[in-house]
Amino acid sequence: MKIPRGTQDILPGDSEKWQLIETKARELCERYQYREIRTPIFEHTDLFQRGVGDTTDIVQKEMYTFTDRGGRSLTLRPEGTAAAVRSFVEHKMFGNPNQPVKLYYIGPMFRYERPQAGRFRQFVQFGVEAMGSADPAIDAEVISLALRLYQELGLKKLKLVINSLGDKISRTAHREALVTHFSPRIGEFCTDCQNRLEKNPMRILDCKADRDHELMRSAPSIIDYLTDDSRNYFNKVTTFLTDMEIEFEVDANLVRGLDYYNHTAFEIMSNAEGFGAITTLCGGGRYNGLVEEIGGPETPGIGFALSVERLIAALEAEGAELPVKEEIDCYLVSLGDEAKDYTVGLLHQLRMAGFSAERDYLDRKIKAQFKAADRVNAKYVAVLGENELKEKKINLKSMADGVQIEVPLESFIEKFKEICR
Ligand code: HAM
Repeated sequence: MKIPRGTQDILPGDSEKWQLIETKARELCERYQYREIRTPIFEHTDLFQRGVGDTTDIVQKEMYTFTDRGGRSLTLRPEGTAAAVRSFVEHKMFGNPNQPVKLYYIGPMFRYERPQAGRFRQFVQFGVEAMGSADPAIDAEVISLALRLYQELGLKKLKLVINSLGDKISRTAHREALVTHFSPRIGEFCTDCQNRLEKNPMRILDCKADRDHELMRSAPSIIDYLTDDSRNYFNKVTTFLTDMEIEFEVDANLVRGLDYYNHTAFEIMSNAEGFGAITTLCGGGRYNGLVEEIGGPETPGIGFALSVERLIAALEAEGAELPVKEEIDCYLVSLGDEAKDYTVGLLHQLRMAGFSAERDYLDRKIKAQFKAADRVNAKYVAVLGENELKEKKINLKSMADGVQIEVPLESFIEKFKEICR
């Protein structure tokens, strides 16, 4: 039996890297004051159709949708924003005294995409969502949090790309310009784009199939249709980024693949040589209007999500090592049946005292036991032979400097606490 396409097992040796990344993300959220939300892996299909948008690739082609035994249409979540917003509305978080509501999540998402380097069908997203504030300072905060995570994990070759998709008025004007631009030659575009022209012409700009069509390059840019308010908003965001000494590039063609965005949209890419064809590490933006769409009161929102898979790929491309420590405090080596049995209790006591400890379970010879201790990077090896047992003492060796001491068995745990802490 083989693992399903587009999924992967994270094995010991690698899982520690994932844990470290998750710990760093949680710690950063604490600093920035985002609190964890855990929502279900599946939701009503309708949530994503309304939230992510009917005309997006995600909804049209990529969802894992099934009917449950009660006849409901459910979907494995392809992203986290719609669910966070659903929960925000369902639990009336708009009424919380603490506003804005700042949430984060880490968990698996599912998209039926063509697997390739950096693209999986199950992947883990870390994301944050801030709801309840239309202050451009929050946009800058969200962007800086994402960048900070990468930087503190050791990435250097990063590029922040940012754009404004404007407000409703800006987008309506841009939409009309796009229809005028593409309509005369829409027959030269894929059937998806032909449908998009009516429903959501901005999506055409994001089409992978027609990316190289000459009309794409000359397409009207949203930047030219921004209202004064939208332009001012965007200027504030970029000013705050500059104040924080965050470098960015404005890309008027950045539209993002989900329908809920307006005003700020951004992506963080990897510039590392040897990084695969997909260079986007993180994407996010503002989604004022989404909370209403999901049935809540008018509430502004902004967030981002990034996948741990692409983060790890970027670390590998840059040759950045995560400081994963794999060592244990003590390995118990024993000689003779009686001593071997005695180590069962001793091991238990070490663990009860909070130490990571291990012993042999394969009846190995003493040399092989020492090798096993080496393999798990034991800081100390405690040796209990027949003689030691008779004399009620144990031999403790520090693997860092080779120094050995004899310790009375009855005070072993106390002594170990002294020297190992
Ligand atoms: P997204 O751009 O669809 O946005 O995905 C965000 C990130 O998830 C991507 O930049 C990438 O790191 C990762 N990702 C997406 N698809 C895959 C895949 N198939 N394999 C591996 N990684 C993948 C969202 O999901 C929005 N919910 C982000 C957001 C939050 N906007 C506002 N708040």
